[in-house]
Amino acid sequence: MSQVTQSVIVHPAQSFGGQLQQPPGDKSISHRIAMLAALADGESVVKNFLPSEDCVNTLRAMEALGARIHSNDAGDLVINGTAGKALEPANPLDLGNSGTSMRLLAGLMAGFPIKVEMTGDESLRSRPMIRIQAPLEQMGAKIELLGANNCAPLRITGGGLKGITYALPMASAQVKSCVLLATLYAEGTTVVIEPRPTRDHTERLLQSLGVPVTVDGLRITLQGFGAKGPTLLAREWTVPGDFSSVAFWMVAAAARPGARLTLDHVGLNPRRTALLDVLRRMGAKVTLTPEQRPDAEPVGTIVIEGVGLRATEIGGDEIPNLIDELPVIAIAGALAEGETIIRDAAELRVKESDRIAAMAANMRLLGVDVEERADGMCIRGPATLKVGGGVRSYGDHRIAMAMAVLALSAPEPVCINNVGCVQTSYPNFWTDLKTLGGHVE
Ligand code: S3P
Repeated sequence: MSQVTQSVIVHPAQSFGGQLQQPPGDKSISHRIAMLAALADGESVVKNFLPSEDCVNTLRAMEALGARIHSNDAGDLVINGTAGKALEPANPLDLGNSGTSMRLLAGLMAGFPIKVEMTGDESLRSRPMIRIQAPLEQMGAKIELLGANNCAPLRITGGGLKGITYALPMASAQVKSCVLLATLYAEGTTVVIEPRPTRDHTERLLQSLGVPVTVDGLRITLQGFGAKGPTLLAREWTVPGDFSSVAFWMVAAAARPGARLTLDHVGLNPRRTALLDVLRRMGAKVTLTPEQRPDAEPVGTIVIEGVGLRATEIGGDEIPNLIDELPVIAIAGALAEGETIIRDAAELRVKESDRIAAMAANMRLLGVDVEERADGMCIRGPATLKVGGGVRSYGDHRIAMAMAVLALSAPEPVCINNVGCVQTSYPNFWTDLKTLGGHVE
């Protein structure tokens, strides 16, 4: 817990760029592979699994259901699956800060005839869970929301599920995935209809395991396998580099004229990479070289060449495909010439923190002209940065990392408080920042 109060001082970077040959594994994909491998028949080996706090919480939960997990000599994760079975966990599962763990596991566990409680940290216990309770109860599970304001802890009484047709009220890959995972152990067919396209890792990973998920525009159809569930065969996986983690470096390089940054083995799933379009609109040069690796997810090398950025507008269908990048896109806006407008992003208010309020408050502390709006913000740049007191992470990893990127361009060192949360998604963040030219105490 000592990390919770840790602060860092990030110094202005004289130069920034270079190469990251092995970016951290993708968090969303690591969670999903952990869940599916834990239910598979046999031993799965997972290379480049992200050993962050969020993903470790998923691993602990899968162990509680009966999977056996260890690291091999090569440092890969080895998961011995339960061949489709799940024990009733003896104790409530603590999922820490991880919304993906809680929402996806709720779907998975609802399919089994077990009772399980799930809880998390203060942030997770304040995040909306009615969005998963509603479809899972329609499918036949009982989901009790035991916390204040219909939040976690959750108590799930699972089993006896039926497929449903469900139009998602919000664009959420977590809710979509929750319903699809529940359907694996349901009778009948589920159709999920998305309001806008969201990340499709669950669909791709299921397909690569031979589960026939069909996608027709915004409609995803999956035939349930009934109470026995599907037979998933163990296999070897390689987790692509996390686009959302290296996004911090992309913005840092893009906003610096003359900088050049090369990022290898990064996941290039088009439902994740809308930041690249934004950076191109802002004037940065972006070059992609896909790797010829036939697997569930496209992977490749990204090269970013920095310029003096110009402002842009971000909204509509683009939002779910850069939802986790919006804090650092706000930083790009602060460093760009003109008015950058982010709209249609009210979901940011229910992330690990209220990311609209947190970013606006932090950027204002450093002298950025930013107007907070209900569904986004308007940033007038380029900011003349001033350094007052420290800025805060709000216990939110992406706020801490986004502020570190702004600090690289500030005239004086910036103190960022409470940065232990960075461990939830990017344990090597500060080391990689130094590798690319930053200086941090
Ligand atoms: C995630 C989906 C997104 C994203 C989160 C991870 C996932 O959340 O913000 O960091 O792994 O499915 P929503 O689906 O709730 O928007």
